[in-house]
Amino acid sequence: MTDDNIIRMDMGSTQSYNNSGKTTLCLGIESSCDETSAAIVDSDKNILAHIIYSQIPEHQKYGGVVPELAARAHILAVDEVIKLTLERANKTIDDIDVIAATAGPGLIGGVLIGWMAATGIANATNKPLVAVNHLEGHALVPRLSAASASDSKTNIDVEFPYLLMLASGGHCQILLVHNVGKYELIGQTLDDSAGEAFDKIAKMLNLGYPGGPIVDNRAKLGNAKRFHFPRPLCDKPGCDFSFSGIKTAARMMLDKIPESDIDEQFINDFCASFQSAVVDCITNRLHNALKDERVKASQPKTMVVAGGVAKNSAIRAAMEELAKQSNMLFAAPPMSLCTDNGAMIAWAGLENYKIGKVVTEPIAPRPRWPLTEL
Ligand code: KG4
Ligand code: ZN
Repeated sequence: MTDDNIIRMDMGSTQSYNNSGKTTLCLGIESSCDETSAAIVDSDKNILAHIIYSQIPEHQKYGGVVPELAARAHILAVDEVIKLTLERANKTIDDIDVIAATAGPGLIGGVLIGWMAATGIANATNKPLVAVNHLEGHALVPRLSAASASDSKTNIDVEFPYLLMLASGGHCQILLVHNVGKYELIGQTLDDSAGEAFDKIAKMLNLGYPGGPIVDNRAKLGNAKRFHFPRPLCDKPGCDFSFSGIKTAARMMLDKIPESDIDEQFINDFCASFQSAVVDCITNRLHNALKDERVKASQPKTMVVAGGVAKNSAIRAAMEELAKQSNMLFAAPPMSLCTDNGAMIAWAGLENYKIGKVVTEPIAPRPRWPLTEL
């Protein structure tokens, strides 16, 4: 573990939440993909310390996450990350009330390492343990901290039920979040996730990994009208997504262009045109979701975006506009809480602990674990 890989984040106080009773402190551990992260979060919505050890530099040369390398890197990092987090929060393990860790879905080698670390600490200290679904971490973190895209300073209280666009490297779903542990699937991708589409386009253009932030930045400098990408399923009813057709269209377009024509402006325009297709698909599907009988019956007040792709500036802006047109609030986590992180696991741990969902017997971490099976 090198110091360069550590993104230290002391977020300080976010917003007062529950001052009525005793404050509960949770240590959360995340290890489901290529970040080893730990955070200490309290039930008053304060992030006392947050350490993210990013393995991106280790996977970059392979153009994506190599599961075996990820698992080894988690083993080497996890103890140090937890120790540093406690130190930064000026706490000892005795001060912690609850331990939480990702128990799936994700790359199982990594999940097992974080989960075993959490289990070991909980058993040794006799503290309650929460098995957090990684997707629930993404889904609930806007309740820890969220603002609108245009006013990132004012915190928004995200109350149940809310309409969630969950877009990450592994998932792309529209969900009605009724409560902790209560998710209704409104639509999902039939093939690739949105994050995967960003990563694959970046790979085709040799832009590096992960592709999302690079394509996002390139798109800001490009002309979104120069290339035409398909908008799969947008002429069909329903709320499902399909991104593989966009990827194939990109491959076919690039195959026809001589390499000498692929200059900086070409790349920027290509990224902008691709991103605009993804944005159109997301807004089209959300538009349909708002007309869905289940959504109408629940009357969610807030439209929320979460997951790594929620960092995308164009997606945040388009969703904020759609929410406005639909007389809804719009909320997104701060950038640092969109991609994988320990704070979202600690927060989901606290929310589950509050309703008594703690581990009472040994459980097997799950590589696949849909939100509808909580
Ligand atoms: O949630 P996350 O950290 O990991 C999973 O649970 O999968 O999401 C990672 C994904 C990657 O595919 C990455 O390219 C994408 O989020 N991403 C973005 C942006 N930042 C990260 N996609 C589009 N625009 C961004 N700015
Ligand atoms: Zn994630």
